[in-house]
Amino acid sequence: MKPIDRHEAFELASPFPYTLAVTLDERERPNIIGLSWWMFTSWSPLMIAISVGRERYSHKCLEHHKEFVLCFPSEEQAKDAWFCGTRSGKDLDKFQETSFVPLKAKEVDVPIIEGATVAYECKVVREVETGDHTLYIANVVNIHGDHEKARHLYSIHYKRLISLDTEGNVNLGLKY
Ligand SMILES: Cc1cc2nc3c(=O)[nH]c(=O)nc-3n(C[C@H](O)[C@H](O)[C@H](O)COP(=O)(O)O)c2cc1C
Repeated sequence: MKPIDRHEAFELASPFPYTLAVTLDERERPNIIGLSWWMFTSWSPLMIAISVGRERYSHKCLEHHKEFVLCFPSEEQAKDAWFCGTRSGKDLDKFQETSFVPLKAKEVDVPIIEGATVAYECKVVREVETGDHTLYIANVVNIHGDHEKARHLYSIHYKRLISLDTEGNVNLGLKY
């Protein structure tokens, strides 16, 4: 091993599971952010944390409404998933600009994304300021999934996406 910088380390430690967090803004309009900084924090109860940059529109949304849905976008959703990780919802509606379809969730007011591999409905219980991001720690209150869409997205650094399924089949040539 040799000393490397954070960019080399991000690239070398890739891939990271790439998720989409849906939130609600102050007009109750849903927004979607691409996220690789998420983690499970507890098994019982099941809890998830997401780390959101303070300048993101999603941060504003989470300050307004303390719920999110964490979706694992399926391979077919690569183009729209990448859009949500590279464009801000400050001036555009990501459900209008993509082919994502919102579906009513069961336990939260935030919609889930139709066609995702897995979606966790989450209620925020704690916030931790960490550098230039806020960590939103949440209880998982409901889970959806689709066995037909097992292949979902992973990020390589912040440069591109690949997809993998539970058997380890990989698709490196996604179009988006
Ligand atoms: C692969 C990838 C991973 C990302 N992970 C995060 C993350 O974990 N936290 C974060 O705040 N932003 C992350 N981003 C950046 C946001 O998705 C991006 O800034 C987005 O435009 C913010 O949208 P918003 O302003 O509508 O919230 C990531 C982007 C990419 C492409």
